[in-house]
Amino acid sequence: MGHVFALANEKGGVGKTSIAVNLAAAFVKLDFTVLLIDLDAQRHASRWLGVDTEVRQLDQSFVGIAQQHCRLQECIVRTDEGIDVLPSHKDLVSLPDVLNRSMGGGIYTLHKALQTSANVGYQPAITILDLAPARGPVLAAALAAATRCIAPVQAADLVLQSLGDLSASIIQASEFNPQLRGLSVLRNNYTPRANLDHAYDQALSEVYQDQLLQTIIPSRALIRLASGAQQSIFRFSGPDEVAVRSTFLALCEELLLLDGVPT
Ligand SMILES: Nc1ncnc2c1ncn2[C@@H]1O[C@H](COP(=O)(O)OP(=O)(O)OP(=O)(O)O)[C@@H](O)[C@H]1O
Ligand SMILES: [Mg+2]
Repeated sequence: MGHVFALANEKGGVGKTSIAVNLAAAFVKLDFTVLLIDLDAQRHASRWLGVDTEVRQLDQSFVGIAQQHCRLQECIVRTDEGIDVLPSHKDLVSLPDVLNRSMGGGIYTLHKALQTSANVGYQPAITILDLAPARGPVLAAALAAATRCIAPVQAADLVLQSLGDLSASIIQASEFNPQLRGLSVLRNNYTPRANLDHAYDQALSEVYQDQLLQTIIPSRALIRLASGAQQSIFRFSGPDEVAVRSTFLALCEELLLLDGVPT
């Protein structure tokens, strides 16, 4: 069984896509097979990895899979960095409605799609879900398929409330997804010397203690620049590349220590 990491936070702009893309690239560097599923109609993850989403059909996104118009393994694009991507589509905004109209609110659609593809031999070691900043049926379907939810947070944001809501969703999801190991809070866009970050750290560790990941992703221009160049930080060369790459590799190691090495 592989790991399924859902990058979620209802708060926008906290780094879900930045972490999803570069964590995917980091796991590829460590020789794992990686599938990134873009569940956001903004298509940032797909575009970041160089997929031209304009030439693709809606049916080739998760909307088509949820409607059983196509199978997951047939819609995947292998990027030149070696990451398998299930790209999004601009009309993926219809996904909540599609799921709502499906049996049981479509809660098991993603879980089933991953299982069906595993049954025919396509089973990535690591699957990463990039979610839109929203609650609702897409988050519910993601949590029903996930083995862990990773919530990036930024000190400048008042995210404790949105984290509280996410925690509640995860507790609910655990009731019907026994493989969901829980929530991990990941500090992103971090500036260690800022007083705000220090105070925020204390608040986070009081509330989230064991759920707080030790790895911290610092605020680095490289991440923004790599996005503009449509390359992961492992392909793009720029300021602090060695340090930023090793931080993402450390994040992989921490997750593997928590959840084990997928077989
Ligand atoms: N560690 C970081 N250092 C520097 N810039 C960052 C970092 N993390 C994210 N950013 C920048 O912050 C912005 C928002 O990041 P990102 O798109 O990953 O957030 P998101 O949570 O996916 O947003 P949305 O909720 O809209 O999907 C982007 O411009 C990104 O380049
Ligand atoms: Mg995003």
